[in-house]
Amino acid sequence: MIRVIVSGHNGFYGLSDVLRLFYGRASENREEGYIVCEDDKNLVIRSEANDQGVSTYIDGEKDKWNQLISATFNGVQLEVKREIKRQLYYLLTQVENKTFPWGALTGIRPTLVANEVKSKDRLVSDYLVRSDKASLCIETANKENEILVLQAPNAVNVYVGVPFCPSRCAYCSFVSQDINHHLNKLPLYADALTTEIRLAAEKMPAVSTLYLGGGTPTVFDDKEFAKVIYSIAKDIKFEANAEITVEAGRPDTINEYKLSVMKDAGIRRICINPQTMSDETLRRFNRQHTVQDVVDVFELARKLGFDNINMDLIAGLNSERPYELIESLKKIFELDPENITIHTLYKKKLARLTREQVLGGEAVASGLHDLTLDEVLSEAYSMIADKGYNPYYMYRQKDTSHGLENVGFAKVGTECLYNVAMMSDKRDVMAFGAGGVCKRLFEGNRIERCSAPKDVITYIRDVELAAEQKLAFFEY
Ligand SMILES: C[S@@+](CC[C@H](N)C(=O)[O-])C[C@H]1O[C@@H](n2cnc3c(N)ncnc32)[C@H](O)[C@@H]1O
Ligand code: SF4
Repeated sequence: MIRVIVSGHNGFYGLSDVLRLFYGRASENREEGYIVCEDDKNLVIRSEANDQGVSTYIDGEKDKWNQLISATFNGVQLEVKREIKRQLYYLLTQVENKTFPWGALTGIRPTLVANEVKSKDRLVSDYLVRSDKASLCIETANKENEILVLQAPNAVNVYVGVPFCPSRCAYCSFVSQDINHHLNKLPLYADALTTEIRLAAEKMPAVSTLYLGGGTPTVFDDKEFAKVIYSIAKDIKFEANAEITVEAGRPDTINEYKLSVMKDAGIRRICINPQTMSDETLRRFNRQHTVQDVVDVFELARKLGFDNINMDLIAGLNSERPYELIESLKKIFELDPENITIHTLYKKKLARLTREQVLGGEAVASGLHDLTLDEVLSEAYSMIADKGYNPYYMYRQKDTSHGLENVGFAKVGTECLYNVAMMSDKRDVMAFGAGGVCKRLFEGNRIERCSAPKDVITYIRDVELAAEQKLAFFEY
């Protein structure tokens, strides 16, 4: 058992993030002031903060650890919230003889820290980030900054959410409503969404970017889909050259009619997401489409003139050998999409996959291509770079194997501005649909949020109120 005794600060959350990296699970007892992790070792660690700063040590070895930590970080301490994490991370790397690609950077978007320290070397020395990840992080942060300045600080970004899917993929917990159980709600949802958009759009300023996501917005039947798309295109005022993206992720929900409607409405960016280019994996994860469906829909979209297509892949799907990501990637290169987004499998609360399945994904690595997920990701990134894509946004989720990341890559000039604006926390986001969270920025980087009901029935019933509330929230 590993026990971390906390005193003089309240950073349980951050310490648990670090402990989870090493031990998988961490249970906090905030009242009694400790965190425990199951392990064969018996270790008591103290994490203390007082006027002199932070100190992290194994019980009975205070001087030794204070000296080691001070020498490692040149006697300089960060703000308490970060210092307690990096000290614990450093101590555990010594105890377990193990390091992680992102070092002590947990629970914060890596590019935010890159923007603070502005140097790869400081990510390595101050946060113990591995050199290749530090380079990736700086490169991505620079790209994010370049893209964000293309948009005025007061620009309006809109998210329209459709929390329904044709079936629930085993790894996913985004959704919510499996269409087989909620078929009858789709027309009502399309009505509610278009009502909310119409009521709010009358008073809103011109919109810079819009993302119709989910879930799977293309899950609507042809008529409902056209209604939603034309409501967006006709009721909302857009800036000249505004960017509109539609998540058309599941090829089993796309057809020529829906593509033509989007084209007709002036939509150029869509996502067609394979997740993997292995039929066997698609079946295992309940995706209910084939690799050939992805290829067919992609080619159809190209034929109809879509010139900005994103494709999502998931690295580390636990039934695959890590190397299969490379095989998927090679097939994606044959299609030559403008954007490729690589997510690393993460455990979500409501997903069918267990934590052990997600974090233990590497155990299946075997045979010829016996690379770890970490190594395979690095190889994938260099192949993507060789094909002319640049990383342009990045985020991390809790509970991924080795704390690995999600990265969006794009060919120059095809980056999705909405993704960057939304991630940056430096732009307002107006959200429509059940569970939509509006985000408003105030002086001094203060952020306020306003949420619509998550429950679809309540949202449909109270949709006028949802529109009124967000107009009031933004003072439009
Ligand atoms: C909100 S989902 C919507 C995508 C769309 N419905 C589809 O299935 O193509 C956006 C992306 O998140 C990723 N994703 C979902 N669950 C994940 C998980 N547990 N681990 C890693 N990536 C995940 C997938 O790549 C997915 O395309
Ligand atoms: S990956 Fe997409 S289709 Fe699958 S459950 Fe998640 S949101 Fe729905």
